[in-house]
Amino acid sequence: MKKIAFYDTKPYDRIYFDRMKEEYGFEIIYHEANLNASTAVLAAGCDAVVAFVNDTIDQPVIETLHREKIGILAMRCAGYNNIDFKHAYGKLHVVRVPVYSPYAVAEHAMALLLTLNRKTHRAFNRTREYNFSLNNLIGVDLHGKTAGVVGTGKIGRVFINICKGFGMQVIAYDPYPAKDADFEYVPFDELCRRSDVISLHCPLTKETDHIINKKALSEMKNTAYLLNTSRGALIDSEALLAALKNKQLAGAGLDVYEEESDLFYEDLSYSIIDDDVLAGLIAMPNVIVTSHQAFLTEEALHNIAKVTMDNLKAYFDESPLDNEICYRCEEEGHCGKSHQKRCF
Ligand code: NAI
Repeated sequence: MKKIAFYDTKPYDRIYFDRMKEEYGFEIIYHEANLNASTAVLAAGCDAVVAFVNDTIDQPVIETLHREKIGILAMRCAGYNNIDFKHAYGKLHVVRVPVYSPYAVAEHAMALLLTLNRKTHRAFNRTREYNFSLNNLIGVDLHGKTAGVVGTGKIGRVFINICKGFGMQVIAYDPYPAKDADFEYVPFDELCRRSDVISLHCPLTKETDHIINKKALSEMKNTAYLLNTSRGALIDSEALLAALKNKQLAGAGLDVYEEESDLFYEDLSYSIIDDDVLAGLIAMPNVIVTSHQAFLTEEALHNIAKVTMDNLKAYFDESPLDNEICYRCEEEGHCGKSHQKRCF
């Protein structure tokens, strides 16, 4: 029986893997801890490692896993900005779940927008105390407003369709435009200037790191809402906090935060949070922070478990690894998976 070490797991994702483990013939060792240089050694004696968005798969981790003769890392997520791919090449096959439910993430982005705009979070708190006042709860019609979508891949396209359902105009920025687009592509700075809502759906790369910076924020309408359900470091959080304080922006809906890795997914309600930027953002009446939960639907969790188990099975069966990714696939675009349909 193959033994798999799972990192950064919580009860809500274990359920879905537990339902399938017998069918696949895997023994699973769950760790609550994140995967990092200190915890990698916990995988000793296992045949594979499964990790998640806030794990750190850097050189020391890769070296430890390699030393322990672990040849595969299965990411149970789509994003992979937390992996040192150059170092992993030739040592560790990296597979991921490229699609599990773009609807889950896009719908969460719209939930953040609707909450921010119609202030339902504040109304909920008020009526619980029999405060039926409507003061300061005015929103705007989304119908006819312009949504600016950064990144028109799987999630961006679903978000665009949702916005169209609301009667919004859609403009988008993506260096690799879709050929079948039924919306207008514009340069990034024009998108910042024209949009009433800006939603980020691009991956975190060298090019997109702090794509929302002081300059981009200064170009946005002061009535605009900014949504980030992609990766925290797309936004310079200090610049965002300053822009919100200066009333340069109507509000922000953040499912991700650049310094989230030691905070999100944990109950820190009895701790002092040593992060003034996050504390400042959370204190704003026009900011909603959720804890990287945009993926959290039953359908998405089921699909994540199924594809992760299939990825591992394909590795152990010596079958092609369709969901493998390496630095040559990503940065150089010419991997070609020429080694028995694997990256190396
Ligand atoms: P995708 O790969 O289908 O689409 C990404 C799009 O971004 C592509 O069209 C690509 O051309 C575009 N892009 C690349 N570089 C860009 C740039 N410099 N500027 C603008 N666009 C650029 O990915 P998918 O599935 O739509 O996911 C998007 C992101 O959502 C992921 O990278 C991940 O970070 C995030 N995500 C967040 C989740 C959450 O729970 N909050 C869950 C799943 C994904």
